[in-house]
Amino acid sequence: MSKVYVFDHPLIQHKLTYIRSKETGTKEFRELVDEVAALMAYEITRDLPLQEVEVETPLAKCKSYLLAGKKIGLVPILRAGLGMVDGILKLIPAAKVGHIGLYRDPDTLEPVEYYVKLPSDIEERDFIVIDPMLATGGSAVAAIHSLKKRGASNIKLMCLIAAPEGIERMQKEHPDVDIYVASVDEKLNEKGYIIPGLGDAGDRLFGTK
Ligand code: PRP
Ligand code: URA
Repeated sequence: MSKVYVFDHPLIQHKLTYIRSKETGTKEFRELVDEVAALMAYEITRDLPLQEVEVETPLAKCKSYLLAGKKIGLVPILRAGLGMVDGILKLIPAAKVGHIGLYRDPDTLEPVEYYVKLPSDIEERDFIVIDPMLATGGSAVAAIHSLKKRGASNIKLMCLIAAPEGIERMQKEHPDVDIYVASVDEKLNEKGYIIPGLGDAGDRLFGTK
C-alpha cells in the first residue's frame, strides 16, 4: 500500500488558504501555485540519495555531497499541472519535463487522453507526476498507467489537494506510487469537484471558464 504524505509546513498551509479563496484572482492564484509547488518540491526531494565527493575550496580540500541516483522527470497532467512546473524547476532545474494531456469527460468523469510526450530516456529517470487536484483519481491513475506502459517504474504523485476518493482509487490501482499533498479535503460533490477544494484549478490558473 502506498503512503500519503501531507505537507503541513506553515508556509505551504498559509499560501494554500489564499489559493482556496474565491477572492484570489488569476495573477495571484498563479503566483501562489508556483510558490507552493516550489515548497512542495523541497519537501518531496528530502529522500533523494547523496554521494560523497571531494571538493577543493579556496582554502582546503573537504568531503562534500552531490545528488546521486537516477535523474528526475516531471510529468504535469495538462492542463492544470502546468501551473506547478516552473515552481518545481526552480529547485530541480535539470529535470526533463514530459506532458500527458487528459481531460475529464464532464458526463462520465472518466479521463480522455489526448497527448503524450515523454523524455526518451524514460527508464533512466524517476518521475514526479504533477496535478493540483486529485478528485476521483481517474486522471492521475490513467496518467500513471500511461507512464508505466512506456517503461517508467519509480513514480511519485504530487498534488495540492486530494479527495479521499481519489486517494483510495490511486492506492488500489497504483499501490507502488506514494502521494504527496498539501491537504486531504472532505469529499467530492455530485459533479466530482473537491469540497471545499479550490474550484476548477485549470480555469483559475488560466482565467478560463
Ligand atoms: C482537473 C485536474 C485533474 C482532474 C482531476 O483537470 O487538473 O487533472 O481534473 O480530476 P479526477 O481526479 O476526477 O480525474 P480537468 O479535467 O478539469 O482538465 P484541465 O486541467 O484541462 O482543466
Ligand atoms: N478538477 C478541478 O479542477 N477541481 C476539482 O475540484 C476537481 C477536479
